[in-house]
Amino acid sequence: MLAEPKLKIILDLVQSSSKEELIWMNGYISGLIRNGKSQEEIAPAPSSTVKKITIAYGTETGNSKKVATEFAVKAKKHGIAAKLVSLDQYKINDLVKEEYFFTVISTQGEGEPPVGAKKFYDHIHNNGFKVSQMKYGVLALGDTSYPLYCKAGEDVDVQLNKLGGERIVPLQKCDVDFEQDADVWFEHVLKSLNESAVVTPAVKIQPAVETKKATGKKYYNGTILTHVNLNDRGSNKQTYHVEVTADEPIEYEPGDALALIPFNKASVVKEIIALTGVDTTLELETTKAKGTVEELLTKNINICYLLSSVVKKYAAITGHAIPEVRFDLIELVKKYPVKDAAQFVEVLKSLTPIAPRLYSISSSPNAHSGEVHITVSLNRFLVNNEERLGLCSEFIGGLPVNTNFTFYIHKNRNFRLPAPGKDIIMIGPGTGIAPMRSFLAERDATGANGRNWLFFFKRPAGENLCTA
Ligand SMILES: Cc1cc2nc3c(=O)[nH]c(=O)nc-3n(C[C@H](O)[C@H](O)[C@H](O)COP(=O)(O)O)c2cc1C
Repeated sequence: MLAEPKLKIILDLVQSSSKEELIWMNGYISGLIRNGKSQEEIAPAPSSTVKKITIAYGTETGNSKKVATEFAVKAKKHGIAAKLVSLDQYKINDLVKEEYFFTVISTQGEGEPPVGAKKFYDHIHNNGFKVSQMKYGVLALGDTSYPLYCKAGEDVDVQLNKLGGERIVPLQKCDVDFEQDADVWFEHVLKSLNESAVVTPAVKIQPAVETKKATGKKYYNGTILTHVNLNDRGSNKQTYHVEVTADEPIEYEPGDALALIPFNKASVVKEIIALTGVDTTLELETTKAKGTVEELLTKNINICYLLSSVVKKYAAITGHAIPEVRFDLIELVKKYPVKDAAQFVEVLKSLTPIAPRLYSISSSPNAHSGEVHITVSLNRFLVNNEERLGLCSEFIGGLPVNTNFTFYIHKNRNFRLPAPGKDIIMIGPGTGIAPMRSFLAERDATGANGRNWLFFFKRPAGENLCTA
């Protein structure tokens, strides 16, 4: 709390300020608190020599939009008019006219651009036009746990250069704790814009890791407390309610997801080892992990539904002519055997890591202190008329109480409860009910007085029996 004289000064200032000025002060003070910077360091920004830029974002869950919007506000403070546009609204034909073009784009699926950015992404890859007057920079949002980290941003960065654009700031890749790297990158953009009119070489960004506070992604050592199948006896479905605790407080908010990396199925790993004759105790190092062949095959290397680019590498190593479609590793080693164990080790080094799977959290930190709950439906699908089970849902289904496993929290800043007094309507079919349970529990535990409606309906039987 402030002492009387200071409080008076603040109140006078607030009352005499416009909404815009209040927003600026809010950002100014947040900056002070977040970065611990001195007033001089974040004092009103110098005006830039470049007066107009475009900031285009491609997003799936809103992070890139949030970052791009903050950039546009900062640019304005530097006297730069920033046109802020979502890539799904962007007029593709304007690209050739762009002079200063900054893209903030996330990676989704397996190394793909967000759905809304696909048209832009395809356009720059498929069309033989030039963007010779363009000066550009790309900020790529991603998650280091995925095999193709920030791939969409990387592709856009390379492609704009191929089309003749001049990269005035190097590509910056950001992990899930993207705020600080994004801020530093945009500071360099602003610096570079200031220098651009006098045409200087591209600014060198310090590698993100050197400028970064030691935050990083937080992994928890989890333990399963409760594991219940919610479906009745005789049902052809399995839906698990799983309660987890950790050896330290779990930081999350309703709307977030729990991310975990499943292990490969032990019987399949065993079969691969038997078929290839590889020495299970051999120590290996892949791009993201180190361990014995058996450990890596069980916990790190993806052996399911390999990307066609990975299948292509398998074909190159083994010398077989293999169609460029997706296969499980077990199918490959059966149909297109390796020459010997040494060749299989080469194959192992070319494989990508297992991608994390995300499950909406169904608990509330206020109602379920020290716990995080998820609701997981066993995923069944058909491949060539043969029923298969989803890797992670089967893995979770088989985790008995007291098992330990590693997880992290995937923040979903764009999926949050509104103010406590606001009424909400929630629609959550099937396991889509999970985050709604979290919202309801949170509202109950915090005494929020808004009214709540929840519409729940069962998914029709067999709906998740899809073909792949
Ligand atoms: C289903 C899914 C798939 C993802 N795939 C990748 C990926 O292949 N590579 C990567 O670096 N990040 C991947 N991510 C992480 C996102 O890029 C990251 O969460 C980013 O901050 C999202 O930004 P956005 O909200 O702007 O879309 C994936 C996230 C989800 C939910």
